[in-house]
Amino acid sequence: MLVPGTKHAHSSRSDFGVTKQAHSRREFLTRAASAAALGHFGTTALSGVSASATPKHIARGRSATGEPIPYGAAVRADALAGDASYRAAIVSNCQFIVPEGEMKWPDVRPSRAEYRFEKADAIVDFARMNNIKVRGHTLAWYGGMPAWTDDIGSRAEAERELVTHIESIVGRYRGIIPSWDVVNEPIEDWPKAGKVLRPSIWTKHLGPDYLRIALRAAAGSDPSVQLVLNEYDIEFKGPRFAARRRALLELLRQLRDSGAPLHALGLQAHLFADREIDRDGLQSFLSDVKAMGLDILITELDVVDYELPGDVAERDALVAGTAGKFLQAVFEVVRPKAILTWGLSDRYTWVPTYFKRPDGMPNRPLPLDAEFKPKPLFAVIEEFRRNA
Ligand code: G3I
Repeated sequence: MLVPGTKHAHSSRSDFGVTKQAHSRREFLTRAASAAALGHFGTTALSGVSASATPKHIARGRSATGEPIPYGAAVRADALAGDASYRAAIVSNCQFIVPEGEMKWPDVRPSRAEYRFEKADAIVDFARMNNIKVRGHTLAWYGGMPAWTDDIGSRAEAERELVTHIESIVGRYRGIIPSWDVVNEPIEDWPKAGKVLRPSIWTKHLGPDYLRIALRAAAGSDPSVQLVLNEYDIEFKGPRFAARRRALLELLRQLRDSGAPLHALGLQAHLFADREIDRDGLQSFLSDVKAMGLDILITELDVVDYELPGDVAERDALVAGTAGKFLQAVFEVVRPKAILTWGLSDRYTWVPTYFKRPDGMPNRPLPLDAEFKPKPLFAVIEEFRRNA
């Protein structure tokens, strides 16, 4: 499903409509106090968001049962810099943002010797200026690795690169980023006996140890951070998805038994309206994960609509209905600590890169349309995060 990219970010632009400059570690630390007070997505974490930090329409809609579940979206630094309507929509709707690519290896490590944080810093800065929190994404992934990492030639070198990278980026945002997708998509597309972990530069040199190494490096770089393992395609009906749930559960148990630090499972939830949610399979899986003491986050929700009817009203209803079925199944077992969509508006979405519609019409996978108007999907998310 995912295509490795080799994005190279050289822009030093960090203009989100407020005065910006490159930030040193010291400057970040100075700002860290308020972020640290918020903790991570644990039980106490987000209840710390002050009323003044909460967008007005959020405060107005607060449910009688307590704080709504925090909502957030993946963002793009270039769009934040250049699109005032996008900035406004993020500020009015998001309590969290997560960089869609700006904290991935190709952006941060375009070459072995180089660390580039301009775009990541710009997003963190935008968030801070607007009282929005940031999730980090991602540290150990098979995909989107810069070409130079193919030259890594030994176990010692791989461990050194992985650990140094994690210490650099998690350390840079220590006390500022409360939650990191440390491990992304570790499970094979269709796991089979003896072939469960997805091959990567990390499995090549470190085998399954890469998971513990990454988690420990992140924990050591910021002991307060919420450590998340993030995975996709675990909610649907069918043998491939059942195999993925079994493999993931087994992996989580192995990590627990080995004493690896891990706090939460991220359900990416890139849904497809033509794939049936396996309510029983998902719920049994979530019960087991919950019993292990792990929190659940929904990290990348959207609904891929490339095979849905062209009619916009019909399509939007199917998209919202698909998300509703998924959220219903999840909420019957566990209240997620956060709900994030992979983008806020249809104006900026990864979906057409891989799932362009055959009829040429724009994809509509996200809560706001391309003009930032709320769609039925927005209402479904609001309903669950406030009232469920
Ligand atoms: O920045 C370059 C640009 O310079 C170049 O001209 C262009 C040519 O294709 O590529 C640009 O980089 C692309 C980058 O997105 C920024 O747009 C990469 O090719 C492309 O591979 C990359 O795709 C991202 C993908 O992860 C791989 O990193 C998607 O935007 C992003 O939405 C997607 O996000 C993933 C999550 O990390 C994990 N879960 C699934 C999710 C969706 O696939």
